[in-house]
Amino acid sequence: MGCRRQPSPRRGNGRREIVLYKLLKPAAFCLDSEYAHDLAISALEKTGQCRISRAAAASIYGWEDSRLAQTLWGLHFPNPLGMAAGFDKNARVIPALAALGFGFIEIGTVTPRPQQGNPRPRIFRLPDDQAIINRMGFPNEGADAVAARLARLNKPAIPLGINLGKNKDTLLEDAAQDYIAAFEKLFPYGDYCVINVSSPNTPGLRLLQGADYLGALMTQIQAANQRLAALHQRAPMPCLLKIAPDLAVEDLEAIGALARVSGAGIDGLIATNTTLSRDGLISSVNETGGLSGMPLRARSTQVIRTLYRVVGKHVPIIGVGGVSNGQDAYEKLRAGASLVQVYTAFIYQGPVIARSIKTQLLTLLRRDGFNSVGEAVGVDA
Ligand SMILES: Cc1cc2nc3c(=O)[nH]c(=O)nc-3n(C[C@H](O)[C@H](O)[C@H](O)COP(=O)(O)O)c2cc1C
Repeated sequence: MGCRRQPSPRRGNGRREIVLYKLLKPAAFCLDSEYAHDLAISALEKTGQCRISRAAAASIYGWEDSRLAQTLWGLHFPNPLGMAAGFDKNARVIPALAALGFGFIEIGTVTPRPQQGNPRPRIFRLPDDQAIINRMGFPNEGADAVAARLARLNKPAIPLGINLGKNKDTLLEDAAQDYIAAFEKLFPYGDYCVINVSSPNTPGLRLLQGADYLGALMTQIQAANQRLAALHQRAPMPCLLKIAPDLAVEDLEAIGALARVSGAGIDGLIATNTTLSRDGLISSVNETGGLSGMPLRARSTQVIRTLYRVVGKHVPIIGVGGVSNGQDAYEKLRAGASLVQVYTAFIYQGPVIARSIKTQLLTLLRRDGFNSVGEAVGVDA
């Protein structure tokens, strides 16, 4: 069956890693959030560059089980758990994340030109809520630099998503040109691309989700996709649309209906980005930006369910928002997501997260009599 089960002698090593992260976390949480993030990226980059540390990480975290594998858009996903966009904006830690057992990785958001993003501080931890507020505003090195790094990469055998955005100073009317410019540079390196129209931190961006813009935007991107495929002599890349959790049911249904139209250019949906809502927070914070983590979980699952009722299995959905354990991931799968992603829980739980979610998912699938993860998709929708 081509599966590599979790080797039991390694479990002891895994426990040592959990203890180590628990010891390091209080120190890391004393640092400014973004500084701690930059340190983590540097450490992961070094881990990924060294063959021995990569192999050591993979031997602890990287087991796979064929019951978790799926093929979507013609791509093989060894497990349904991915790293969400925003963690590795500039494609620096792909080998390390693969060694930690993620089934796919999404880099970005990448804009055509480099940009600084909003002034710091711009990431805020809310430990009592297991949440984060961020107003990063797409700081990134730009498509040329990211493409150059990807060209040097020894790409791991898991799907790589490339999340695209527009520069802050590009007019909304010219947004398509920005997405296409970044797409052209990054096309040779990705397995799927994501049109991010849902960050709350780029003024006006979310308007692109509306009927006035969305159809035309996706048609233009799809035309570029066909042209790039011919140029590079490969198949067109699956293009996914990442949406906000703050849309009304009618808007979600309209997006789902558009996605079902063949030729509309939406091959998949990612639900959801961060929320502007502050409902249910324990922490008293007065920071602007998008909220992620536990308080987003139920809302994002509801969005997945609403979309799935419209698109069914015709348009695969990636569910993201507040996933912190196997049960959360399972709920999103049962609501209609074919794959799930995490970001905030990785900050709170550390490198063990992919492994523990996969283990818990297998237990839940077995409990409910499913032979594979695909069988559970949408059963609660
Ligand atoms: C600090 C931070 C930066 C993010 N940057 C991006 C980004 O650049 N592009 C994007 O599509 N989503 C970005 N996100 C949103 C995540 O990809 C994800 O959709 C959201 O955080 C919900 O998942 P979570 O609750 O597991 O964090 C960011 C999230 C955080 C916390």
